[in-house]
Amino acid sequence: MSHTQTAVEKTKEQQQLLNLLAEMTIEEKVDQLMQLAVPFYEGAEDEGQITGPMDSLGITQRTVHNSGSVLGMAGAAETINVQRKHLENNRLGIPLLMMADIVHGFKTIFPVPLAIGCSWDLERAEQSAAIAAREASVSGVHVTYAPMVDLVRDPRWGRVMESTGEDPFLNSLFARAFVNGFQGSDLAGDYDRVAACVKHFAAYGAAEAGRDYNTVDLSERQLREFYLPAYKAALDAGCEMVMTSFNTVDGVPATGNEKLMRKLLREEWGFEGIVISDWGAVKELIAHGIAADEEEAALKAMRAGVDIEMMTACYAKHLAALISTGRLSESLLDDAVMRILTLKQKLGLFENPYRAADPQRESEIVFCDEHRAAAKELAIKSCVLLKNNGVLPMHNKQKIAVIGPFARNSDLLGPWSWTGSRDAVEQLADSIGCKLADAASLLVAEGCGIESAATEEQWQAAEAAAAAADVIVLALGEHSDMSGEAGCRANIQLPAAQLELVRRLKELNKPLAVVLFNGRPLDLHGIYDEADAILEAWFPGSEGGPAIADLLFGDASPSGRLTMSFPYSVGQIPVYYNAYNTGRPQGAPDAQVRYVSQYLDIPNEPLLPFGFGLSYTSFIYGEPELSSQVLRENGSIRLTVTVSNTGTVAGEETVQLYVRDLSGEVVRPVKELKDFRKLLLQPGESREVSFTLTEPQLRYYHADLRHASDAGEFIAYIGPNSAVNQALPFRLTSVNG
Ligand code: BGC
Repeated sequence: MSHTQTAVEKTKEQQQLLNLLAEMTIEEKVDQLMQLAVPFYEGAEDEGQITGPMDSLGITQRTVHNSGSVLGMAGAAETINVQRKHLENNRLGIPLLMMADIVHGFKTIFPVPLAIGCSWDLERAEQSAAIAAREASVSGVHVTYAPMVDLVRDPRWGRVMESTGEDPFLNSLFARAFVNGFQGSDLAGDYDRVAACVKHFAAYGAAEAGRDYNTVDLSERQLREFYLPAYKAALDAGCEMVMTSFNTVDGVPATGNEKLMRKLLREEWGFEGIVISDWGAVKELIAHGIAADEEEAALKAMRAGVDIEMMTACYAKHLAALISTGRLSESLLDDAVMRILTLKQKLGLFENPYRAADPQRESEIVFCDEHRAAAKELAIKSCVLLKNNGVLPMHNKQKIAVIGPFARNSDLLGPWSWTGSRDAVEQLADSIGCKLADAASLLVAEGCGIESAATEEQWQAAEAAAAAADVIVLALGEHSDMSGEAGCRANIQLPAAQLELVRRLKELNKPLAVVLFNGRPLDLHGIYDEADAILEAWFPGSEGGPAIADLLFGDASPSGRLTMSFPYSVGQIPVYYNAYNTGRPQGAPDAQVRYVSQYLDIPNEPLLPFGFGLSYTSFIYGEPELSSQVLRENGSIRLTVTVSNTGTVAGEETVQLYVRDLSGEVVRPVKELKDFRKLLLQPGESREVSFTLTEPQLRYYHADLRHASDAGEFIAYIGPNSAVNQALPFRLTSVNG
């Protein structure tokens, strides 16, 4: 279906689907709403026999044969076989939709989304999704459960690594970029693309105490102002599907929440695509305590507007009876089925149920050099230099000891990389070795385990390597199961074994450059003061090793900027830059001053703020200027600043524009990101950057949820991160003001 498709053709296609719907029995319709994972299809490949764990769900083989979609299947040969067998058994020849979590790459694994966020590079983010889509599509996948756009403020929550961070504006830009990359502009005609499914709707990232699946309770204003914009941006970009979240929203689990799904998503936002539950979330309505049994769970989820039930069988077992007894209208079922059939049609599955799946092309495209080069580029852009006392970059004549549990470790792909291959990952010590003029200058020692303390033997090897080296590269981190789904931690320091290794190595008085591999902002006590340099590499993906080596040796320059604050300690959490001021702001920290909003024992500020990151050069900002101090409601003002590279190497700066509203009807954040520019500056080069501000950028949700601006006083800030404090006051006036 191309953009030029006429209304008549559309109606014709819709009519075909309506004709098909008319032929379907209630059971066949209900089966379209069922989604099962790969184990249910084991054996289907060869014999068409379905031998999966049906008893666990209490469903029949017929349901599996006729189900509308599959979860987590990939691989051209396998998907072709399963589709073929499915069609042989399906009375009406309705193809299966193959859905899977292709989150940050398929075989070519890109950095985790939080790292991609830190690149502030929307083009490369889009490209990463396009490459993931191309590889997934040729392997038979039709839909990816991505992007995850949940706004995150709590690094204890393991899933922060799936998000691009704490800012609604930036998250929205990334949401759009990812959807564009996955879906392209012509999903029907472009077989290199897959449909996207934005998740988890809504506000999953606000789980209380950073514990996964926990309660979320936000005011509607918070929800609309901070949490909803990125989902909306994904839908405005044409995202085909939405996944519900596990949490409650205002007391009602999202999966049974009519106000959220039917009223807001469908009626207010006009979303016409498919809503899928998260894994088992329909049945979880029972554990939440809003449904007595599976039948009531099915009823509530249907009424809320959930079209596909993932991995439980409340619909399969109860919808037909709910309809025949008149408790549920068949039209709700028909609407859901039509949405599913429409996506199948849009993807071209009725004409070609195998779509792009092609084992030959799969072997050529997947993990090809071009894709790997893009993954390396994005890994370079995603690393954030947190500290550098001059030890970095290193040079290739130095003797380098690579020590730590990540010196030789292939766990660089991070959570949600099930289709990737750890065997193909180059380990950091090897990547560093490739840079050295003399192979004998590389010394490697594990030092300790990720969570297990050094043995005497390990320590002696580490000490010997360190003693012989000019510089220690200390490769530390969390293994990938320490973040991701259900990967929450109450203590977000590195495990004690690694802190002890830092302490002991520090005593040797050698330059210490730490490289961190992890899925969340950490509490850096025991590392930050001890290290001479810290490079935050996150989980950098398939090409992480060579990318980091390029950065460590100055063949590339670090340019990432944090999109989630690094807390001073866990007691501050949630700590984020776009917070409110309170009636008793702290002012200058002073332990003698009481009755202001502060801690007695730690600073209010995070250790490292949103937007922060260093490079190998230095940038100086000139005096910023405003074209006018008055912004008329229908006009604009320009903000200009000159940025100079005053160092000796080229570097990339991310110039950030923040605004504070001093005249709100409700309290407003102390800063809100409004725009940014990335600039590559050669040594000695200066460039003028300008931003335009207009009234719509100053709108916010009022007490009555009206989205509007208020005339009055504002402050703009332009600088390298959210801690910038040089104020540029301006006034918003009404047209005649
Ligand atoms: C996760 C989703 C994921 C789904 C399917 C769930 O447990 O919360 O993010 O898409 O599983 O794998």
